[in-house]
Amino acid sequence: MREVIYLDKPSFTEAIKRNQTNINTIHYNNETFLTNLKNNLKISERLAKNNTFYIKTHGCQANIRDEETINGLLTSLSLKRVENIEEASIIIINTCSVRENANNKVYAEIGNIKRLKEKNKDLVLILCGCMVETKDTLANLINKYPYIDIIFGTHNIDSLLNLLYLYMDSDNKKRIVDVSSKEGEIIEDLPATRNNKYSAYVNITFGCDKFCTYCIVPQTRGKERSRDKEDILKECKLLLAEGYKEIILLGQNVDSYGKDLKDQNITFASLLDAVASLPIKRVRFLTSYPSEFSDEVIEVIAKHDNIMKYIHLPVQSGSNSVLKRMARRYTKEEYIALVERIKARIPNVALSTDIIVGFPNESEEEFLDTLDLVRKVKYASAFTFIYSPREGTAAAKLKDKINDETKVARFKRLTDALEEYYPIYNESFINTIQEVLVTSVSKKDKNKVSGVMFNNKIVNFNADPSLIGEIVKVKILEDKLYSFNGELIK
Ligand code: 5AD
Ligand code: SF4
Repeated sequence: MREVIYLDKPSFTEAIKRNQTNINTIHYNNETFLTNLKNNLKISERLAKNNTFYIKTHGCQANIRDEETINGLLTSLSLKRVENIEEASIIIINTCSVRENANNKVYAEIGNIKRLKEKNKDLVLILCGCMVETKDTLANLINKYPYIDIIFGTHNIDSLLNLLYLYMDSDNKKRIVDVSSKEGEIIEDLPATRNNKYSAYVNITFGCDKFCTYCIVPQTRGKERSRDKEDILKECKLLLAEGYKEIILLGQNVDSYGKDLKDQNITFASLLDAVASLPIKRVRFLTSYPSEFSDEVIEVIAKHDNIMKYIHLPVQSGSNSVLKRMARRYTKEEYIALVERIKARIPNVALSTDIIVGFPNESEEEFLDTLDLVRKVKYASAFTFIYSPREGTAAAKLKDKINDETKVARFKRLTDALEEYYPIYNESFINTIQEVLVTSVSKKDKNKVSGVMFNNKIVNFNADPSLIGEIVKVKILEDKLYSFNGELIK
């Protein structure tokens, strides 16, 4: 077995600690950059002839934003990103561990990379992201996949270049692991190479302190930390100057923004107000936590035309007893009351949600409460999941009497309940003219492009791909349940 150098190891006790110490913000300054650059030149010399890297990202928007930083760091070395894994001299798998099937996809992927490693001895395989943050999974990865060269955690992205240097510099290519559970500092101004030129993710908080009993995120991404408002606004202004049309503010729970900052006047409402006051065409935010969604936030959304009238408001379950077992801090009635306040103030709002079916021992009655809530709220869209036990979470310790067939059947019944309302909602857009941000060539028809409406619904229409990144007017013609067909208005 190749020797493994552990610069830091994940620790469950560290990961769940929530101490009051203030988090420092470190600006990634020129000095750090220059030191890296010197090391990087050495890395470049040692890499195989083609200095190319391939990144595959699994999971949520936080991971996508991390990918952009990884991309930025490697691009600062003059390495070139490739889309074909076979052409890469460095492969990075940015993992997700929110559900078991996310882990399984990664295992399959690493299995396939073995063949490439056998063909090319100089190939460097790097793993990062949420999956490496849990002790047992990390041990499994180390033991079963001896050809993984470098592993770093969600708190260690800024060390990537140094890790690569260390690895390249070690004579017999020792394996290197740097996974901290302590959150460390907030590192600002790391280089980022964004995935597109029109819509940008901007982190506002990192981590989560809610500890919903099913969720691994508070362990993998650590204590909740807010970025300084000025750093966020600086990033938004830079994006604006670069011509970005859309900014999506990101946090596991955006409503907690500012609670850990010294200035108590800084809230999510005040931040959102400041961002939407910039001349940016579209502002979105993800994800909201129902019991912390304030009336001030509702007012700010109502006040600004450029804040998309789309709110992703995960409910998880419509049953009070399940919500309690999940440690969600609201009841079905409180959630519905919030939805009513939102709809009263923002009449054209599109609501979406996350729902988990099959939480341990969910009874038929409890499940029916979820169906009832879905019918009352009338979601424009939703993400639905079958509960998946995660090592290290409170719910994973629960014995579950519900069988898989019941869970799968409930999943289908939930989808059916959600789909009762989608056609009614979608119908209201037929023959209307909507602003659409064009994002790609259509996957199904190369002559068409796809774009996104204010409510996150996809519209496909005939147009030239040169329109990608533009906001155009489209007449909505046909409802396809999960998308629309439309016609470009010249
Ligand atoms: N099993 C199933 N779904 C989960 N989610 C989070 N953890 C789990 C789990 N263990 C879902 C929640 C969350 C979304 C991002 O993923 O609905 O809002
Ligand atoms: Fe997970 Fe709950 Fe935090 Fe969301 S709010 S990231 S579901 S612990």
